[in-house]
Amino acid sequence: MSPTAEVTAALKLTDRINRIEPSATMAVVAEADKLRQQGKDVVDFGAGEPHFATPQHIKDAGIAAIQGNFTKYTAVGGTAELRDAIWKRHAADFGSNYKREETVASVGGKHALFNAIQVLVDHGDEVILPVPYWVSFKDIVRYAGGNCVLLETREDQNFRLTAGMIERLITPRTKLIILNSPSNPSGAVMSPEDMREVIRAAHDRGIWVVSDECYVYLNYTGRLFSVGSLQECRERMVVIGSLSKTYAMTGWRLGYALGPAAVISAMQKLQSQSTSNPTSIVQKAAVAALTGPQECVSEMRSEYIKLRNHIVNGLRALPGIHCTLPEGAFYAYPNVSAYFGRSGIKSASDVAGKLLREAYVATVPGEGFGTSDHIRVSYATSATELDRGLERMRKFLAAL
Ligand SMILES: Cc1ncc(COP(=O)(O)O)c(C=O)c1O
Repeated sequence: MSPTAEVTAALKLTDRINRIEPSATMAVVAEADKLRQQGKDVVDFGAGEPHFATPQHIKDAGIAAIQGNFTKYTAVGGTAELRDAIWKRHAADFGSNYKREETVASVGGKHALFNAIQVLVDHGDEVILPVPYWVSFKDIVRYAGGNCVLLETREDQNFRLTAGMIERLITPRTKLIILNSPSNPSGAVMSPEDMREVIRAAHDRGIWVVSDECYVYLNYTGRLFSVGSLQECRERMVVIGSLSKTYAMTGWRLGYALGPAAVISAMQKLQSQSTSNPTSIVQKAAVAALTGPQECVSEMRSEYIKLRNHIVNGLRALPGIHCTLPEGAFYAYPNVSAYFGRSGIKSASDVAGKLLREAYVATVPGEGFGTSDHIRVSYATSATELDRGLERMRKFLAAL
């Protein structure tokens, strides 16, 4: 037993807390921070957040909320004003038609996702999880007592996910399928046609779909799409959204879920016994984000497309590295396996670890996302930082 496991055993902590692990992404952020505190100049490709500042009109609304003393408890699932702003924005952008009672605001998209899974997944239920997956899906399902059934996708097919692939994994215990398009970490975007087929296949078998659409506006294919538009399948579908990436608001903590009223009401019940409402002043800022001018969203999207092209070209120019073209989010997911076997490197974790400690470039190893040949490179930073990081990577790899 490791010293940490021994301490944990002595404390008699619960089974459910011992079933989960801290987020791999957070671990990289912590290690990069430590190096920075030691005075090292770290190029940060690890963080999963926009480098843009929150747009001014959103910040102003937050300040006005404080000045106007909008600082009391609100309804647990958010004010009526906010919930209406959420479903109306979604209806305008994606053609959905949710109502207020089918909408809940939470403390970030992760919180909405956590609540949805706790409400839908019971002990022993199977949850189909496409690989590569965002780190938290697995642990949130495990915390609920569910078993993840991993669905491998192929890099040479741009990590494509089809209904046929999902159907092969369905058993009588399958409760839920988790979708995440655009994907963190691969940047893969499901076509509306594939999405539609997957949703119909699940719907026809009475299986739930939780669609994590936190990056839905950072879709570079020119075809913005949410499963929320598939109203004929709505009774077994929960859409998770977030203002974090769309409006560069990661620290504000505002996410939401859209789904059947009974599920939303159960999620609110859980929320009422944990966080209660999302911060009141953040709710006002969120209303400004959702109802105000939307140019900031398309401007940031255009910028990410330029940065995406920049990093992918740079990575592909590194000897031995291959990289699919991410069609959304702000991550590239290069395959680094050509370097396994050199300088004692055996895995993507070794590549990312050495890259951080020896070249001061922070990335996240693919193991945390369920693949062993990749590292995740966040390109939500300036083109100058991308160049600095790429140059360090080039020298580092050449020396292996
Ligand atoms: C796929 C995915 N879902 C959800 C989230 C949660 O975002 P937030 O809780 O900031 O809304 C993230 C954040 O990185 C993410 O990558």
